[in-house]
Amino acid sequence: MIKSISDTTVLHNGVRMPWLGLGVYKAEDGQEVINAIQYALEAGYRSIDTASFYKNEEGVGQALMESGVPREELFITTKVWNTEQGYETTLQSFEESRKKLALDYVDLFLVHWPVSGKYKDTWRALEHLYKDGKVKAIGVCNFEIHHLEDLLGDCEIVPMVNQVEFHPRLTQKELLSYCKDKNIQLEAWRPLLKGEIFDEPVLVELAKKYEKTVAQVILRWDLQNGVVTIPKSVNKERIYQNSDIFDFELSREDMEQIDTLNTNHRNGPNPNDF
Ligand SMILES: NC(=O)c1ccc[n+]([C@@H]2O[C@H](COP(=O)([O-])OP(=O)(O)OC[C@H]3O[C@@H](n4cnc5c(N)ncnc54)[C@H](OP(=O)(O)O)[C@@H]3O)[C@@H](O)[C@H]2O)c1
Repeated sequence: MIKSISDTTVLHNGVRMPWLGLGVYKAEDGQEVINAIQYALEAGYRSIDTASFYKNEEGVGQALMESGVPREELFITTKVWNTEQGYETTLQSFEESRKKLALDYVDLFLVHWPVSGKYKDTWRALEHLYKDGKVKAIGVCNFEIHHLEDLLGDCEIVPMVNQVEFHPRLTQKELLSYCKDKNIQLEAWRPLLKGEIFDEPVLVELAKKYEKTVAQVILRWDLQNGVVTIPKSVNKERIYQNSDIFDFELSREDMEQIDTLNTNHRNGPNPNDF
């Protein structure tokens, strides 16, 4: 059982990644993202998920620097955006991100979307950065099984992580089981569906039963599925709330009940449209 905010999953290269992180998509660069990270670090989070696309890497870097938390305790993820994909452009984009973050190395560098005709060259650049020691782990986002099959047939290093849209309306059973088989850690983006399922009766009942909020029930369901989760909030109370998920366990029946809410509904884009 995952019992503490400092618990980690071990990626296939031995790197430890926290089960819970703070997502910062749509957190404004400057004071908003700085404050969010400060609250999160106070609450015990050590993992932050940003991307060049979010345009807040400088604020993330500033918050980390000001926090005084030792670098080796932190787990920082960023991503290469679609327009920067390709070998050389990915290397350049990484360097820009690294400088904005004011870090010597990044813990996890991800391909943001499977841009067709580009993602294999992008992946070669990530392999290069990994071998160079500039990133501790590399992975992809929004890869379906067929994208992974295509990449695995042609790469040196198997991605350590696949970050995908994952919530009770999109339970991704097949992909989850495929990734477990290949030792690729699945990570949930938009885990709370931005609040759109907070009044779903099944979840409201479970929240009552466990004396938790719906958000906490969903995040606990992620962890018990073996999925890393990165809820976004810039609100101190909600950042703390989202981290208070380590003192209860959903029963097997309740896990299955949440699974029944799946409708294969996507809130974000379909990865096959890229
Ligand atoms: N790789 C990709 O393609 C991709 C795509 C999308 C997102 N992501 C990553 O995944 C992270 C999470 O996804 P997301 O930000 O799209 O959506 P999310 O985490 O499902 O939802 C965030 C929204 O829910 C609110 N919220 C958070 N905790 C809450 C709580 N306990 N109660 C009520 N409302 C709450 C937040 O508002 P407040 O801030 O006001 O609290 C925010 O509006 C992103 O920040 C990003 O790092 C990756």
